[in-house]
Amino acid sequence: MQRWSFFWLLVAKLAVAELDCDGVTCEVESIHLLQHAHTREVRKSKAPERPEALASPFAEVLVLSINEEKYKLSKAELKDQGIVAVSRVKGFNASRDSELSEALALLTEYGNANSLHHTVSNWMLCLHTSPGNPPNFGAANSEFWRNFFRSSPRNVSELLDRDQHNCVPKVVAIAAAHLRLWKELAEGKLQTKEVEEKDPWYLVMEEDVDLCPYWRQRMEKELPQAPADAEIIKLYFFGHWRKEDEVKVSVRNDSEPATVTPFLDARDPLRGFDLFKAASYEFLHGASWSSVPVAGFYAGTQAYLIRPSSARKLLKQIRGKPFQDIDMTMMLSANNYVWRRVLAQGRPENVDLLQDGATESHGSAARTATATAPQCNMEPPSDQFW
Ligand SMILES: *[C@@H]1O[C@H](CO)[C@@H](O)[C@H](O)[C@H]1NC(C)=O
Ligand SMILES: *[C@@H]1O[C@H](CO)[C@@H](O)[C@H](O)[C@H]1NC(C)=O
Ligand SMILES: *[C@@H]1O[C@H](CO)[C@@H](O)[C@H](O)[C@H]1NC(C)=O
Repeated sequence: MQRWSFFWLLVAKLAVAELDCDGVTCEVESIHLLQHAHTREVRKSKAPERPEALASPFAEVLVLSINEEKYKLSKAELKDQGIVAVSRVKGFNASRDSELSEALALLTEYGNANSLHHTVSNWMLCLHTSPGNPPNFGAANSEFWRNFFRSSPRNVSELLDRDQHNCVPKVVAIAAAHLRLWKELAEGKLQTKEVEEKDPWYLVMEEDVDLCPYWRQRMEKELPQAPADAEIIKLYFFGHWRKEDEVKVSVRNDSEPATVTPFLDARDPLRGFDLFKAASYEFLHGASWSSVPVAGFYAGTQAYLIRPSSARKLLKQIRGKPFQDIDMTMMLSANNYVWRRVLAQGRPENVDLLQDGATESHGSAARTATATAPQCNMEPPSDQFW
C-alpha cells in the first residue's frame, strides 16, 4: 500500500516541481533518492607482504571524522597496511547546535545556503540513504504532506526550520565538512609532511570506511592510467553507472582496438530521465520502494583522491551553487572519475549495525539492493537500465 501511494506522491510532486521551475531546466531531474541497503560481507583488508616496498601513490590520508574512536580504528588499520601519514580532519557533529550553525555559516560564506537545488526538499532528504542506511519512508511521507500546500523552502535555514524528522542536519553537516576540508587543503593547512611532488594526491576517507584487499597493488598499477585531467578520483561509489562512461586508452591507429582503463568518467550525475526511468522500471517490476535503487550516478564521498589544485578549483566552482548533496555538487564542479571496481568499502561493524535495522524493516529489500552496491575489487553489478 505504502509503495503505491509513494509512487503517486512522487509523480505528483514532480509534476508540481515542473510547474515551479519557470523556464529553467525543467527536466524530471528531481529524483535523488539515495537508497541502498547493504548486506554484503566486507572482507578485512590484508596488509601487503612488504608494504614499505611500495611507494605511496598519495602524500597523506585525511580521515574526516566526528568520532575519535572510529578515527583511531582507521588509523590503526592504515598503519597495518604500511600507511603512517594519517591525520584527522574534524567534521561537524550534526547533533550539536553550535556545530550545525558553524556548518551553515560556512555554506553561507560560499553562497551555497541561499538557494536550493530543485532535487532538494524536506521529504527528499528523508529518503536520503547510503549503503547500510535505509531511507525513512514514514518521515518522508509525513514531510511530504506537511509541505504539500506550502511554498517550497527557499534556503538551507528554511529547510532546517521545517525539518521535523531530523533528516536535514546530517546532510548539511557532511556538505560543510567536505567543504572545510577542501578549504584547509587549498590553504596548505592540512599538510603535515614535506613532499617533493608539487601538487600530490591526498586520500580523503570518511571515518567508517576501509580500503579493500590489494588496494595498494591495484592503486600502484592503475593510477598511472588515470586520465590526465582527473581532479578527483573516487575509490568508492554507489548508485547507477553507465558503461558508456568507461575511459578508454587513446589508440594510435584505427585498426587497434581501444582498451578500457579501470576508470569511469563520473559525469551527468543527475541525468534525470534515466533516473526516473530506472525508478519506474524497478518499481513496476515488483520491487518494493525500499529496494528501488533510486540513486544518483556515482554517488558517495566515502573515499577519494584529491589534489590541492583540485580543492582550489572546487572552492571557486561551487560559489553560489544551490544547495544539494555534496557528492553531486562535487561532480558538477570538477573532473571526477571513479574506479569501476571499487577500492574501498564501508567498515563491517557499521554495516552489521545498520543492517539489523534494515533487514527488520525492509525484509527482502536488502537482498535486491545488494545486487546494486559495488563490492571490493569486483565489477559493479550491471546496471540493467541502459
Ligand atoms: C554528537 O553530539 C551529540 C550531542 O551533543 C553527542 O551525544 C554525540 O556523542 C556526539 N557524537 C560524537 C561522535 O561525538
Ligand atoms: C531564507 O529565506 C527567508 C525567506 O525568503 C528569508 O527571510 C531568510 O532571511 C533567508 N535566510 C537566509 C540565511 O538567507
Ligand atoms: C596499427 O595497429 C596495428 C595493430 O596493433 C598494427 O599492426 C599496425 O602496424 C598499426 N599501424 C600503424 C600505421 O601504426
